Amino acid sequence: MLRSSYLDRVAQEQLLAAIRAIIREAPLFPPRMPRTGSPFSVQMTNCGRLGWVSDVAGYRYQETHPITGRPWPAFPELILAAWSDLARYPHPPEACLINYYGPSAKMGLHQDRDEHDFAAPVVSLSLGDTCIFRYGGATRRGPTHTFRLASGDAMVLAQDNRLAFHGVDRIIPGTSTLLPEGGRFNLTIRRVTPPPA
Ligand code: SIN
Ligand code: FE2
Repeated sequence: MLRSSYLDRVAQEQLLAAIRAIIREAPLFPPRMPRTGSPFSVQMTNCGRLGWVSDVAGYRYQETHPITGRPWPAFPELILAAWSDLARYPHPPEACLINYYGPSAKMGLHQDRDEHDFAAPVVSLSLGDTCIFRYGGATRRGPTHTFRLASGDAMVLAQDNRLAFHGVDRIIPGTSTLLPEGGRFNLTIRRVTPPPA
């Protein structure tokens, strides 16, 4: 589900300020592909109890930043509010992956499947330059289509779309004035563990 212009400009600025504070505490780090160790073109950090990391040892969630070794910063209120508003899921989120795309960064087609609970959705928020987002079905070989995600747009991957393949073909530089340095932040808010029985 796409909610265009979910965050107005003021909310985008507030969320950006929260992200900057998170990055001061938990700096963006360069993730690497499992096995090959080749770098992603995006940089990442996280907030919440768990953070998603990738290095030669594989993809995983962990409780600490891979460079500082410190726990991830707490969720800002806006992230919890977006989850309550959009997730339609009765348990709180546990992780928020923050991706920063410079003007030439992209992300290959993948599924979000390192979580142990696919009943919970993934809620995505975008800030800064527009991207060309690629979206498909539950199999890698199936047809895909593209649409744009602009600053303030929210997207929810839930139910039949929870395991949809997706990626970012490219960033369109100069499409937003939110980030003085240009580029794009994407936040994906996630539940990682099954809820308590
Ligand atoms: C992701 O799949 O982790 C990021 C998606 C996006 O940048 O919109
Ligand atoms: Fe993803």
